[in-house]
Amino acid sequence: MLLHVPGILSKSDVAALRARLDVADWKDGRITAGHQSGQVKRNAQLADDDPLARELGDQILAALARNATFFAGALPRRIFPPLFNRYEGGQAFGIHVDNAIRYDRTKADAPPLRTDLSATLFLAEPDEYDGGELVVEDAFGSHSIKLPAGDLALYPASSLHEVRAVTRGARVASFFWIQSFVRSPSQRRLLFDLDVSIQGLAARAPDAPEFVRLTGVYHNLLREWADA
Ligand code: NI
Repeated sequence: MLLHVPGILSKSDVAALRARLDVADWKDGRITAGHQSGQVKRNAQLADDDPLARELGDQILAALARNATFFAGALPRRIFPPLFNRYEGGQAFGIHVDNAIRYDRTKADAPPLRTDLSATLFLAEPDEYDGGELVVEDAFGSHSIKLPAGDLALYPASSLHEVRAVTRGARVASFFWIQSFVRSPSQRRLLFDLDVSIQGLAARAPDAPEFVRLTGVYHNLLREWADA
């Protein structure tokens, strides 16, 4: 499932982040790439132990924690500390799959994280740059994604994906991975559809007895499928 989560950050939050990021200490993006992806990755990135990345990453984690749609779609058990990248002057990230396991090298005692979901939080408006689409492949074909600043794209970390060359301006984004309570994409999808349907029922018929029963079904399915 590809999920667009609008408004993770407000426009003023984005502007405040960008003011810091536009003068940040950008490095070669291959610092976090695996062997295959390192051969096709051309961009700039903040080092994962850059204090600015950790500070802004914590702001993003706080914003994610307030977002019900993100929670319903990802069912996050753990979130990798957000990283930041920038593409300009023809830079691109060719087709690849993200590493299955990530290690937070900034914390000695952090357990490894299984990447169930990949996330891109757009921090530049679409009219600031040409190209730079996130293209994700699934069973239905290729999906080209270019979202407003402050919006999030969530997609299965198992999917082949790429970032097309940026031919004008700069594409700035935060990216991170999520280990979900529910490992299976199809089970996550069912839970998300059920959750959205229950929310709709709650809005239209809050006194319906089915509301309580369906809420129970949701939590009992989650109990069956979650690894906690
Ligand atoms: Ni990737």
